[in-house]
Amino acid sequence: MTLKYDIGKVLFSQEKIASRVTELAAQIAKDLAPGRELLVVGILNGAVFFLTDLVRSMPRDLDVRIDFMSVSSYGNETSSSGVVRILRDLGSDIEGLDVLLVEDIIDTGLTLSYLLEFLQTRRPASLKTCVLLDKNVRRMVPVAVDYCGFAIPDAFVVGYGLDYAGKWRHLPDIHDVEISKA
Ligand code: PRP
Repeated sequence: MTLKYDIGKVLFSQEKIASRVTELAAQIAKDLAPGRELLVVGILNGAVFFLTDLVRSMPRDLDVRIDFMSVSSYGNETSSSGVVRILRDLGSDIEGLDVLLVEDIIDTGLTLSYLLEFLQTRRPASLKTCVLLDKNVRRMVPVAVDYCGFAIPDAFVVGYGLDYAGKWRHLPDIHDVEISKA
């Protein structure tokens, strides 16, 4: 049977996302020790939209830098397999830095768990996590999520960086996906 995937209803509007992103940015800035530099690391591709909004909501006088990593998790289009391969590493050393790992979504936790272990070996001063969406019912390994936008049920979501087969990342709102018979 062939299935058809369509953009479904709005789960989080762009206004609701923007308001939560502002709150998260304020909290992250507040938690940073005075005078410290913050390196915000986005995991490509999904986190790009969230990261750029997040850092633009941070106070002007905060010393914020950004970097990106790209990882590949083998698996089908709607769930990750847990086998993580680094496709693009960070551009510079993180030893002694306060690092914030940013993800659009945490699902099984395998990607973030792997990355935290991987980056911890480089001895950052601190390593925290910030996810926009937490699908915590699907967690397979425990991961400390320091900052979370919204907890969501086990729904298939797209928009604001989240994709279905590479599509629909550009939608400004977050939607569920309607699956029907083709
Ligand atoms: C998504 C998301 C996380 C990962 C979370 O990435 O951005 O990296 O899945 O899943 P997990 O908690 O089960 O490991 P995806 O592989 O879809 O790549 P993308 O960011 O390019 O969309």
